[in-house]
Amino acid sequence: MATPSPFAFDGDLIAALRRARFIAALTGAGISAESGLATFRDAQTGLWARFDPRELATPSAFARNPKLVWDWYAWRREHVAAAHPNAGHLALAELEQRGVPEFALITQNVDGLHQRAGSRSPIELHGNITRVKCSREGTVVERWNAPPDAVPRCANCGALLRPDVVWFEEMLPEPALAAADAAARRCNVLLVVGTSAEVYPAAALPALARRSGAIIVEINPNATPLSAAADYVLRGAAGVVLPALVAALD
Ligand code: APR
Repeated sequence: MATPSPFAFDGDLIAALRRARFIAALTGAGISAESGLATFRDAQTGLWARFDPRELATPSAFARNPKLVWDWYAWRREHVAAAHPNAGHLALAELEQRGVPEFALITQNVDGLHQRAGSRSPIELHGNITRVKCSREGTVVERWNAPPDAVPRCANCGALLRPDVVWFEEMLPEPALAAADAAARRCNVLLVVGTSAEVYPAAALPALARRSGAIIVEINPNATPLSAAADYVLRGAAGVVLPALVAALD
């Protein structure tokens, strides 16, 4: 017998999820918080509360001090490698495998934990920290040797290598943005999980989905600018709410 859910989900929400032909999810750093990875904007603990994004996450910061930026991403990459997908990631992977006719997972996260949880092909809006690319040609480099005192260089053109993530002031990868846009326009339900909904263009996707007739479900322990516009707000941690929500579909 299934363990009784601690949540009494709205019956209409469950019905909407059960009849949905296309469920999409948009995730942010909050879904990885229970895996021990810091979010960006949570007070005190968030990365941007401890580090200055202008010194670490912009093209001009990399031009000014590539070693500082390279080392900071190397430090984050170690944390990501040591982390494990949590019940929130696993629940979304399970939802995808449940045979919902269509499912799309759009993530702002660069940690690759969705893939490690079994999600088939998440749409990575902001790149992936486990990849490195040539800062001139943009080609992804599989293997690189980081000398202790310098930033590694592209074997082909000699330019500096950089993390394959989207920095502030940079455009998102066009194919990912187009796929996310299409999913937002076509989904019946959009689960918005663990994002402060402040960073664009990702933060524009819920409004686009809503204008296209989708039901918006926010899953976040804290209020965000999206909360007032959401059809359902589930106040709790992703690793607790998502497994319960997926189980409630049984
Ligand atoms: N479960 C669900 N949500 C959580 C949890 C949790 N366990 N813990 C925290 N949150 C919520 C916070 O309340 C907050 O609203 O996750 C959100 C994290 O917000 P941000 O730190 O702003 O992260 P995100 O929205 O992903 O940032 C967007 O900004 O810095 C850039 O490129 C970076 O992709 C990132 C983008």
